[in-house]
Amino acid sequence: QDVITIAIDGPAASGKGTLARRIAQRYGLNHLDTGLSYRAVAKALLDAGQPLEDEEAAVAAAKAVDLSKADPEVLSANEIGEAASKVAVISAVRRVLVEKQRAFAQTPPGAVLDGRDIGTVVCPDADVKIYLTADAKVRAERRWREIVAKGGNVEFAAILADIEQRDRRDMNRVDSPLKPADDAHLLDSSKMDIDSAFLAACGIIDNAL
Ligand code: C5P
Repeated sequence: QDVITIAIDGPAASGKGTLARRIAQRYGLNHLDTGLSYRAVAKALLDAGQPLEDEEAAVAAAKAVDLSKADPEVLSANEIGEAASKVAVISAVRRVLVEKQRAFAQTPPGAVLDGRDIGTVVCPDADVKIYLTADAKVRAERRWREIVAKGGNVEFAAILADIEQRDRRDMNRVDSPLKPADDAHLLDSSKMDIDSAFLAACGIIDNAL
């Protein structure tokens, strides 16, 4: 195997994006936030006023996604994440996006991919798989603090409800549900800050590579 693949999966607001970015930097690998591709499809439908269940429109939007152009700033809104989890249940959309994600992973020297189904579906042969989780309340509190720090005004209870609903939708869908791969290393960051989670992840990776 000439490329290295590190898979990081986990629920919404688990901190996997930040962790994946730091790992990519540390090991000199490319990084792909695969949630952005589902978000880009959702935003295209929302902008065009098309229903999120419109399979034909969703597949067309998925085909048009350019992984290198998905802008995290534009796609970060909570409503887009929520809408993304709705288009993510459409198998035909997943097939199109997974193919692009696999091509990205194959680009030397390899990549850290974060998402929901990287270790189970996108890159089942990844060199290292980490499943990053944290209690829903802890995740909601982190997300809430982030929003408040940026001057936003939102109820903690609304954020928590949002996260719980997204967990349910992501874990219970038929195609590629969120779950740890059998050979994933579980990392629970409920009682860790990002630096400790990063150190723990590096320990797992150094041991495996
Ligand atoms: O990680 P993020 O919150 O950006 O993902 C948005 C939504 O996209 C998730 O709630 C999930 O439904 C979907 N997704 C997915 N598979 C991935 C990444 C994201 O189904 N690999």
